[in-house]
Amino acid sequence: MPSSLPGTLRVLIPASRIRKRVRELARSISRDFQGQEITLLCVLKGSFVFLADLVRELPGLVHIDFLAVSSYGSGVRPSGPIRLVKDVASSLRGRKVLVVEDVVDTGRTVAFLRRHLARKGARAVRICALLDKPSVRSVPISLDYVGFRIPDRFVVGYGLDVAERYRNLPYLAVFHRKNSAKADRPN
Ligand code: PRP
Repeated sequence: MPSSLPGTLRVLIPASRIRKRVRELARSISRDFQGQEITLLCVLKGSFVFLADLVRELPGLVHIDFLAVSSYGSGVRPSGPIRLVKDVASSLRGRKVLVVEDVVDTGRTVAFLRRHLARKGARAVRICALLDKPSVRSVPISLDYVGFRIPDRFVVGYGLDVAERYRNLPYLAVFHRKNSAKADRPN
């Protein structure tokens, strides 16, 4: 296992389990959107791996677009306003949109995206999150598809990072910071 940062990794969800769950999610999504064209919206950066695997399990007609958001604040968790860093490139007017998120923590990003996509004229918005950490939610939101509900741990791999590292791991791992009694901290 790579150890390029002062910390250790413990496998949380192996690649085989992720693969199986992504297929199950794709089956549910295909069933719900049967015969309809959807726009899969990848929230950069962390969701790019999940989206790449998910889209290849979806047999129907899909458009792909990308956006990026960022939040600022001084606390451990981002607490400032959510800012749109990169908007979608295509028109979403009248489209059915499936937002693809790697992880939902406080729910602030999802709440922001729902407002943003409504302003852009999306006809329907559903949210698909690979990971959900319900224990840290501060904004009430609903998720339509969830891969895994997990406790509040600092998770890396399969697109998720710590200081831009480990996005390329094919599995999900908990990052334990060295010399930290409570090693796991949120993404
Ligand atoms: C993560 C994740 C969500 C957001 C969720 O992004 O991809 O967009 O945080 O947090 P929230 O529910 O508290 O709003 P991150 O800031 O880690 O950026 P990255 O995907 O570019 O790594």
